[in-house]
Amino acid sequence: MDNTITIALTKGRILKETLPLLARAGVEPLEDPAQSRKLVFETTLPQVRLVILRGTDVPTYVRHGAADVGVVGKDILLEHGAEGLYEPLDLGIARCRLMTAGPTGWQGGNGRIRVATKFVNIARDYFAREGVQAEIIKLYGAMELAPLMDLADLIVDIVDTGNTLRANGMAPLEEIASISSRLIVNKAAMRSKYSGIQSLIDRLGSAVGES
Ligand code: PRP
Repeated sequence: MDNTITIALTKGRILKETLPLLARAGVEPLEDPAQSRKLVFETTLPQVRLVILRGTDVPTYVRHGAADVGVVGKDILLEHGAEGLYEPLDLGIARCRLMTAGPTGWQGGNGRIRVATKFVNIARDYFAREGVQAEIIKLYGAMELAPLMDLADLIVDIVDTGNTLRANGMAPLEEIASISSRLIVNKAAMRSKYSGIQSLIDRLGSAVGES
């Protein structure tokens, strides 16, 4: 039986905060991912390997069982759904807020507003709940530019320090969700590799508790 556990990690800021947590849980890549173009890394535990992906691809790998476990932002899970996945741990890292934001001093629109975001499902649900008619415009990045260029009235985006908004003449408005990175697990793997995965969850849980 294959007892290898593949962990899919989200590259970028989440990866930087995940690696120390994994190290405290006894899992360290044999090479530094920051110094390598590789995407698959063996670790100090022979039965555990890491793959490093874009955040939006992490739930896809885990849902299909190509990875057993993943680390991904709650924003991605809210936007793309968590079907077929367990979410046993809030890792408490990469904390930020998913917010609406608009040009500083924005007073609200008359009637239908235009909202630019990469979080189209979250935005659609949020404005529907608020009873606000919104045209949702899908973007893949640089959301802050959209109101400046009159592509949209508001944006829905991740806010951490607020520096990106301020630098572009914008201000946060309403919080939609509080975000942090989560551990996700493939449901079938949770059964077939129970002891390995449960022990990883326990060790990561302790590592989160220590921080
Ligand atoms: C996020 C977000 C903002 C920025 C906010 O982008 O889209 O651009 O961080 O952070 P701040 O409030 O501290 O300025 P990120 O750097 O995660 O990259 P992305 O555009 O690829 O999501």
